[in-house]
Amino acid sequence: MNRAKLAPSILTADFSNLSKTFRTLESSPAVGYIHFDVMDGDFVPNISFGAPLVQSVARKTTLPFDVHLMIRDPERYVEDFVTESTEYITVHAESTVHLDRALRQIKSLGVKCGAALNPATPPEALDYVLDIADQVLVMSVNPGYGGQSIIPSSLDKIKRLAALREERGLDFKIGVDGGINRGNLLEACFAGADIIVTGSAILNAKDPEAELAAFDELLKSAYA
Ligand code: DX5
Ligand code: ZN
Repeated sequence: MNRAKLAPSILTADFSNLSKTFRTLESSPAVGYIHFDVMDGDFVPNISFGAPLVQSVARKTTLPFDVHLMIRDPERYVEDFVTESTEYITVHAESTVHLDRALRQIKSLGVKCGAALNPATPPEALDYVLDIADQVLVMSVNPGYGGQSIIPSSLDKIKRLAALREERGLDFKIGVDGGINRGNLLEACFAGADIIVTGSAILNAKDPEAELAAFDELLKSAYA
């Protein structure tokens, strides 16, 4: 089993000093991506930030970007989030009537495409696009806010997606997003998650670098 990578979300970071956040995240071998939670206040009940912020920090870190679009009809804005750092752009299955077209649009821009599932949406919603998706992001909280508790049924959804991937001989990554902390990190990994989005557990910790080191130790123990 490949070792899962952390994708810390900057949702609860100090936006006036993101360089400091990036240095912290770059210091840990467990971190594979920076996760950008883009929220429009329509698809989700909160507004976070838009493309200008993502564009402005693309040259400010060595870490690749995992952009999570929690916006309605994302096809309208996908292109604005393509930067030399953007590795994934993920859109919600519930946010567009043209999910297949949105995923193909992302791929046509030379970026890996992700499909996100809200807690109530079954994996079957992706039946006809699983072969296109490079990532399936399982929301383990209702999207819109950081600092929430995990919805336990999300772990079962990760297991079902891992089984589907195996059954169909596909190789999309499985991401999990929301409420992940030291206490449930390994459960998410053993369920089959490859990309672990975690925000408040790290960036709101008293000592984020120490918290990252603790996550790294846990991941090392899981894959020893
Ligand atoms: C929800 C966001 C959060 C964020 C992680 O819309 O997507 O899940 O990434 O937040 P924490 O780790 O604080 O739950
Ligand atoms: Zn997210």
